Amino acid sequence: MEQINSYIEKNKQRFLDELFELLRIPSVSADPKHKTDVLQCAEITRKKLAEAGAVNTEVCPTAGYPIVYGEKIIDPKLPTVIVYGHYDVQPADPLNLWHTKPFEPEIREGNIYARGSADDKGQFYMHVKAFELMMKTNTLPCNIKFMIEGEEEVGSVNLGEFVKQNKTRLKGDVILISDTSIIANDTPSISVGLRGLSYMEVEVTGPNKDLHSGVYGGAVGNPINILCELITSIKDTNGKITIPGFYDDVIEVSKEDRIEMAKAPFDLSEYKNELGVEDVTGENGFSTLERTSIRPTLDVNGMWGGYTGEGAKTVLPSKAFAKISMRLVPNQNSQKISDLFASHFKKIAPKTVKVKVTYHHGGEPIVTSSSSPAYKAASRAMETSFGKKPIPVRGGGSIPIVALFKKELGLDSILMGFGLDSDDIHSPNEKYGVFNYLKGIETIPHFFRFFAEGGK
Ligand code: BES
Ligand code: MN
Ligand code: MN
Repeated sequence: MEQINSYIEKNKQRFLDELFELLRIPSVSADPKHKTDVLQCAEITRKKLAEAGAVNTEVCPTAGYPIVYGEKIIDPKLPTVIVYGHYDVQPADPLNLWHTKPFEPEIREGNIYARGSADDKGQFYMHVKAFELMMKTNTLPCNIKFMIEGEEEVGSVNLGEFVKQNKTRLKGDVILISDTSIIANDTPSISVGLRGLSYMEVEVTGPNKDLHSGVYGGAVGNPINILCELITSIKDTNGKITIPGFYDDVIEVSKEDRIEMAKAPFDLSEYKNELGVEDVTGENGFSTLERTSIRPTLDVNGMWGGYTGEGAKTVLPSKAFAKISMRLVPNQNSQKISDLFASHFKKIAPKTVKVKVTYHHGGEPIVTSSSSPAYKAASRAMETSFGKKPIPVRGGGSIPIVALFKKELGLDSILMGFGLDSDDIHSPNEKYGVFNYLKGIETIPHFFRFFAEGGK
């Protein structure tokens, strides 16, 4: 323990400097303009792995962005931990809302401000530095394999194929991921579930061209008005989604489990305050924490159409668009829900418009055990470093690849993240606490030790 802390103390400035190097690369996977940056980030990640002591490091090509691989096998008879993370980041827009530039990291009040600081460069790099620490102090107790991908933020479309093609190389005992949050810096938690995702886009077409809203308004269906009506009708006044069959496969959480979950600390007024809202909303009969973890949702993520420029232009638009996400819970299936959405949306559209529904990426929901040897190792590791036993919680976000790891490799994932929900991931001014970064580096070697002792 002392060895870990003194190594971190001696090297923390370098740990930060190296993370900053990664954060300076705008590895935005969604934007083709950043292609060379994403590729450069992959190469630097590989180099960092090799410098930390990994062998067989490789930037593995896929049909999209590459997967960075590296490993250290100390004894094939010992257990193997596979570390997964992602070096790609979300776009930084809207740029004007950032207080400092998104790809020029800066520490203010103990936080590292930069796109990707918490999601996920700061978090996956903790594993690289914890690995370096174990190598340098001769304390790596089992085998380790790294798999850091570059397409998580765009749905991990090519990772599935990579996993299928590399089953031997990816033989292991558990997947370890830091890409989620803890409840608070003095209240550690481990995610034991993630929601799935169906992401749809709809295009509503009314008249075959934009029309004068005075000459035609009142007589011709306005696609924006109609799109709003359609979206509104997809939720009833109880906050329930009205798509027939939507809830059919939802596993209702037992009363006992809900009572257990309600013990996690949560302050509603603080929550509202932080978001600047006077009230919260959602499905009747469920708490805020439940609405964001054990229940499915439907949200419009973006909507456009008609005239949105300066001043006023009187126009009855020809088209309206929306991007809609549905967060799914076990045992909902992303393809099935997407199909239900598409057929329902087409069915409820009036004859005055035509609708086109397209599918974007999706992913399946998961729940993992809080009594497995790997979970217990993670729990003991956090208890050692935080001085407090972590609370198992179900998260609201999605990491679609976790369900795929289970299906293709038969492996469970441990979601031992160190971020905070208030880190503003995907938002302007994303940040990651220096405390969280160093705490992660401190906790990970404990996980390896406990897992190697009893994990196989
Ligand atoms: N790291 C997040 C997921 C996350 C964040 C889980 C916080 C739990 C707590 C991940 O990078 C992410 O953003 N996932 C996407 C899904 C993906 C298919 C684009 C998401 O949840 O929107
Ligand atoms: Mn992430
Ligand atoms: Mn993300």
